[in-house]
This record gives sequence, structure tokens and C-alpha cells, in this order.
Amino acid sequence: MYYIKPVNTVFITALMIISCILLSSLNSCYYDKSDLLYPNTACDTAAVKYSTSVLPVLSSNCINCHGGATPSAGISLDNYAGVKVQVDNGRLWGAVSHSASYSPMPKNSAKLNNCSLDKIRIWIAAGAPNN
Ligand code: HEC
Repeated sequence: MYYIKPVNTVFITALMIISCILLSSLNSCYYDKSDLLYPNTACDTAAVKYSTSVLPVLSSNCINCHGGATPSAGISLDNYAGVKVQVDNGRLWGAVSHSASYSPMPKNSAKLNNCSLDKIRIWIAAGAPNN
């Protein structure tokens, strides 16, 4: 006849809850803070291009809100022309770098990681070409 001692049940349940919390926090760290967790992972800023360096960052962090027919604040970031407008008026960099007097972006999320910010900064400094 099997029976589990109550103390064991409590212990195992506690252990499972703790592992779940640990695992989920590790998981979020992995995605948000990968540049901090792995500082030696190279950030490739050698050949920064709109298509391969900037567009992927905007696609995964911005176009949920700034895409489609009714983009947030009327700011469309799902096409080059729309992005270029925000580069030229200074708002794109102001927002992602969390500069004072700009609305910090991505809204309600962590600041972009340093590698993404470096790529955007380098691309803008090069004149934000559509390459
Ligand atoms: C959750 C929705 C959401 C996401 C994600 C988001 N935005 Fe925004 N964005 C907004 C809203 C709403 C505004 C209007 C201002 C405000 O409410 O803060 C805005 C405003 C802006 C502005 C104007 C800021 C100013 O001060 O004039 C820029 C530029 C901008 N967003 C760029 C971005 C970029 C770049 C990303 C991705 C890195 C991004 N946004 C992600 C919702 C979002």
C-alpha cells in the first residue's frame, strides 16, 4: 500500500514552486539582459545596415504598436519612409535612448539593449540610409 507522508508533499510542492520561479526569472533575464549576462558576446557593429541591423530591432520591439493602419501616435515604423521621418526630427533616438523630454520607448518595456542602441546610433550617424 502506497501513501505519501504529508510533510513530503509540502516539501515537494514548495520545491516545485521555487524552481518555477527561478526558471521563469532566468528566462526573462536571458532575453532582456543578454548583453549584461554575456558581456563577451560580440555586438557586430562593423557593417550596420537598415535591413539587417535596424529593421529587426524595430520589428520585434516597435511595430506591434507603430505598425498597420492605425499606428500609435500616428508614428509608422513598419516602413523606411516612416522611420526616416522620426530619425530626421530626432524623436526616434530621443525615445529609444530615453532622453529627457521624449517619451521613453519601447513603451512600458525595458530599454533596448546596448547592442541594439549602438546599431541604431551608428546607423543614424551614417545618415540613416535605406540599405
Ligand atoms: C506598447 C506600444 C508601443 C510600443 C511597443 C512602442 N511604442 Fe512608441 N509610442 C507609443 C505611444 C502610445 C506613443 C505616444 C506617446 C506616449 O503615449 O508615450 C509613442 C510615441 C513614440 C515616439 C514619439 C516620442 C516623442 O516623445 O515624441 C517615438 C519616436 C516612438 N514612439 C518610437 C518607438 C520605437 C522606436 C519603439 C520600439 C523601440 C516604440 N516606439 C515602441 C506606443 C508604443
